Amino acid sequence: MTACRICGGDLVEFYDFGRQPLSDAFHKPGQFQDEFFFRLAVGLCTDCTMVQLMEEVPRDKMFHEDYPYYSSGSAVMRKHFELTARRFIETELTGPAPFAVEIGSNDGIMLKTIADAGIKHLGVEPSGGVAELSRSKGVRVLNEFFQESTAVEIAATDGQADVIFSANTICHIPYLDSIFKGVDALLKPNGVFVFEDPYLGEIVRRTSFDQIYDEHYYFFTARSVQSMANRYGFELVDVERLPVHGGETRYTIARQGARTPSPAVAEMIAEENERGLATLPTLEGFGENVTKIKDDLVALLTKLKAEGKTVAAYGATAKSATVANLCGLSTDLVSYVCDTTPQKQNRVSPGTHIPVRPAEAFHEDTPDYALLFAWNHAEEIMAKEKAFRDGGGKWILYVPEVHVV
Ligand code: SAH
Ligand code: TYD
Ligand code: ZN
Repeated sequence: MTACRICGGDLVEFYDFGRQPLSDAFHKPGQFQDEFFFRLAVGLCTDCTMVQLMEEVPRDKMFHEDYPYYSSGSAVMRKHFELTARRFIETELTGPAPFAVEIGSNDGIMLKTIADAGIKHLGVEPSGGVAELSRSKGVRVLNEFFQESTAVEIAATDGQADVIFSANTICHIPYLDSIFKGVDALLKPNGVFVFEDPYLGEIVRRTSFDQIYDEHYYFFTARSVQSMANRYGFELVDVERLPVHGGETRYTIARQGARTPSPAVAEMIAEENERGLATLPTLEGFGENVTKIKDDLVALLTKLKAEGKTVAAYGATAKSATVANLCGLSTDLVSYVCDTTPQKQNRVSPGTHIPVRPAEAFHEDTPDYALLFAWNHAEEIMAKEKAFRDGGGKWILYVPEVHVV
């Protein structure tokens, strides 16, 4: 039996996705002889209820100079983070010398607004390419992994922060012990640590199993986050559901006793307990739904192929590595995947080696069916590609079940 990374309790595996590649490793065609694979499986801690991966991938294999995920590729996400920054400016960064820190600031999508407002800030971002781009936007960045030692260094040179924010990054970090100790060193007595990540409640509700891949190590609930925060002298004082990335929760954490918890915290935990969210029967049921989606998707794509229809995919997401590798999708079922990210184009998808082509390919070599890998951006993409459906094209979605629209 493996031990929980948070509390040392028993970790019980509930789904095995098998051999999977690094989800963001887009190799040049023909140059994937040394491709890295690991066993992707998820488990539940029967003590603290944290859902987590059974195996950890070394962080330098995922986050490095060529990390190809650029947050600013979505207009909806640019707006989301601009509003997030404005809210911090109005509510938390109002004192005489405000200071905001972001963990995993990527290309500066959130901090740019804070930098433009002339407020002291620092992004901590280990991936060189995205960090460099954020610098060109006037954002101050430390090109390192955030951990206790980094936080102690920042506190010594810059002082403590009013806000430590992190989006889609805390769930990527197995070593949360070091993160909480770092937050303890870096946060002002009345400061807040705010992070947002895909919500287990939504992953289970929609069977959005492709949220599970190497980089997503933890799948949080209000209950597991509260229990984790308490271990380090913090408490969960607010929760807010967010519609982005297929359904997330934003958690606000403060030092124990520093702020009055919102009733929303107890309400969310009660709701999670009522539905038995982080329990084995629920998670095993989720696993059965995953297997059904896998079978249905392979059956649909095989049928379309037999009918002579062409299928391409839309969005070379990290998430799609899980779907494609679980279903064994290769070029005989999906001819290419289009994506707007230059760093992914003219490369091949991880494990399945489907060519990644620029967004223009979708207009020049339009398929009969488009498998929407970036389903979390469905509204934005379907609006942009309205002509595809007007011209008779059909979208294939696999969340919450396989369906064609
Ligand atoms: N916040 C952005 C980026 C999310 S992608 C958004 O929501 O869109 C996750 C980012 O976390 C990557 O840019 C990765 O390089 C960074 N990251 C991974 N481990 C980290 C760590 N220990 N400290 C800081 N950033 C980290
Ligand atoms: P996303 O779903 O945000 O994240 P992840 O990689 O973590 O699963 O990735 C979206 C991908 O889709 C990204 O590579 C950019 C691409 N994309 C497009 O090609 N066109 C678009 O209109 C949008 C919104 C995204
Ligand atoms: Zn635990």
